[in-house]
Amino acid sequence: MGRAFVYVVLGGGVAAGYAALEFARRGGYSRGELCIISEEAVAPYERPALSKGYLLPEDPARLPGFHTCVGANDELLTTKWYKEQGIELVLGTKVISADVRRKTLLTATGETISYKTLIIATGARALKLEEFGISGSDATNICYLRSLDDADKLVNAMSSCSGGNAVVIGGGYIGMECAAALVTNKIKVTMVFPENHCMARLFTQKIAEYYESYYTSKGVTFTKGTVLTSFEKEDPTGKVTAVVLKDGKHLPADMVVVGIGIRANTSLFEGQLLMEKGGIKVNGQMQTSDSSVYAVGDVAAFPIKLFDGDTRRLEHVDSARRTARHAVAAILEPSKTRDVDYLPFFYSRVFTLSWQFYGDNVGEVVHYGDFASSSPSFGAYWISKGRITGAFLEGGSREEYEALSVVVRRKAKVSSMSELEKQGLSFAIQE
Ligand code: FDA
Ligand code: NAD
Repeated sequence: MGRAFVYVVLGGGVAAGYAALEFARRGGYSRGELCIISEEAVAPYERPALSKGYLLPEDPARLPGFHTCVGANDELLTTKWYKEQGIELVLGTKVISADVRRKTLLTATGETISYKTLIIATGARALKLEEFGISGSDATNICYLRSLDDADKLVNAMSSCSGGNAVVIGGGYIGMECAAALVTNKIKVTMVFPENHCMARLFTQKIAEYYESYYTSKGVTFTKGTVLTSFEKEDPTGKVTAVVLKDGKHLPADMVVVGIGIRANTSLFEGQLLMEKGGIKVNGQMQTSDSSVYAVGDVAAFPIKLFDGDTRRLEHVDSARRTARHAVAAILEPSKTRDVDYLPFFYSRVFTLSWQFYGDNVGEVVHYGDFASSSPSFGAYWISKGRITGAFLEGGSREEYEALSVVVRRKAKVSSMSELEKQGLSFAIQE
């Protein structure tokens, strides 16, 4: 049993949706030549909504409202749209093996799907506590958050937990965004993570302090510099009732949310394609070590021109959108498509707060702005070799964020750190 396509997008997440839009805009395929294969049962959607609008107690976001590509203020790609565009959606279908030499994929249902050109957009999976030697994370009230199914489990757990206690494991993006959502759903939250401040991959101590005190004012308790060792469970349901920490402390828990990082879904291609930084290595055209295979989104490790060609694997939605569109451009019009020139961009929204970051958080840090106000506007620049490498801003306007992106893109020269500290945001706006 088998089907043959010219173009196959493997994975049906953010990158797949934006790849489909780019194919449709460029029109370089005929009806029935292009398909998206996804383990998920629904058409591609904006995954960031799962930890934000999807978890709101009132008027939550629901499909079809947040299919791609609404996150970039573009068209809403519903199932009907794919049909109209002649793009086949092969949903609820897991690919279990790939043969790059033969250009075939084998699905869990036993179908062989062949391609001329493949775009790998398999994203990533959430790390499980079992991988850190802690068992029992399959309990009904322990939630991870990567897919729509995960989000539904989390919504269910929250609805039976109002006024109760949640323990959030991990102080990264999922931990911070879910803790805010839990509080908004009137659930008391304790966050547990091993670092000495939240968002340790990006935030400085000073930036983290602001968010931690804001969260504390909302009733969140922080238990930092430690990890959990086990769960207490009730018989016979197997539900978690407490989280046991390394120092022996027991935290009562009606539910647990775990966000301890991800692994890119590379396993189908290991031994067949070159890997780097935990992902599939691609060139500036998003092309892998096999010229018929491209990789985009969280799974792709690609060169960042702005960082002197350093290879990075980014785990953020803007990068998924842009690398996907770039790969399609490179496939359909290789001679007209230059190497990708991407400015890394991350953001988050929690409670009424909202920040953006551009570039790379390396070098010396200069903080600026008002960290004390109830409607905050503060940030930081990262400076290396006398030039701006990264910029962070909480509570900025569209113009201010745009100005920051420009100074990072230009690697603006810094002659005096103290002057930069004094100027703060106006340094970027005047540039
Ligand atoms: P993505 O994970 O979106 O899609 C991968 C797809 O491949 C899935 O449909 C999966 O089922 C499928 N797949 C994998 N293996 C398969 C197989 N063998 N067979 C078939 N299908 C397979 N970023 C940001 O910048 N700002 C934000 O606010 C957020 N917020 C956010 C919230 C939450 C809850 C998560 C989990 C993530 C974010 N992110 C984010 C990160 C962002 O969502 C992420 O970078 C993109 O979704 C990556 O897009 P991809 O298409 O690469 O993977
Ligand atoms: P993360 O890498 O942001 O954070 C992982 C956190 O796990 C670390 O900060 C650490 O505190 C904690 N940790 C690691 N090992 C642990 C252990 N053994 N015990 C307890 N804590 C441990 O990953 P995440 O928060 O799980 O997010 C998953 C993915 O989703 C990432 O790719 C992230 O970029 C993406 N995401 C992004 C956004 C955004 O950009 N706004 C929002 C949500 C999710």
